Amino acid sequence: LARLEVTLRSALRQYPDFPSPGILFEDIMPLFVSPALHEDLIHALHLLVTHYVTSQKIDVVVGLESRGFLFGPSLALRLGAAFVPVRKKGKLPGPCETEGFQKEYGADEFQMQSDAIKPGQRVVIVDDIIATGGSAAAAGKLVRKLGGDLLAFAFLMELDFLKGRDKLDAPVHTLFAGQEEALSSTR
Ligand code: PRP
Ligand code: MG
Repeated sequence: LARLEVTLRSALRQYPDFPSPGILFEDIMPLFVSPALHEDLIHALHLLVTHYVTSQKIDVVVGLESRGFLFGPSLALRLGAAFVPVRKKGKLPGPCETEGFQKEYGADEFQMQSDAIKPGQRVVIVDDIIATGGSAAAAGKLVRKLGGDLLAFAFLMELDFLKGRDKLDAPVHTLFAGQEEALSSTR
């Protein structure tokens, strides 16, 4: 897994001052341009959740709109699990549960369909980056409202200086840290 993490980390591109001044944007899209890197990414996430999250069967992978949709379904397929989306409010039909959270600028709301998870199902929430932790924390609340057994959160990257994981009440697993060039595992 350490070799995969180095390969994946070095493929990311950094864009200073995007989307606003002072922000160093970590672009994960190169991981999907190369089929070999794409395969490495899914393999690394699969190793992460099977070795560090649980040896139990994972029933549901929950991915956060929108970058969590890039790899959540592939990971779910490899685990033999369901994939369920968390979406921005107003995008999902039928009865939904709603949770608000704070973004850098203003508030936002996430939703899940009320029947998307059966009570007691074992769930892992995935997303590309944990920054302040607000979106992941809202997703965790939605999973619990639906009666899911939230095993863990898994991210590609953590901006650990923002201490987002302090908002989360399930174990947090990440492939790499985001703010430094030097690789530092957050496990
Ligand atoms: C980014 C990122 C995470 C979230 C992390 O998504 O993909 O989902 O922010 O921030 P937080 O930990 O402070 O909540 P964004 O809202 O930019 O939308 P996108 O995934 O649709 O690009
Ligand atoms: Mg996102």
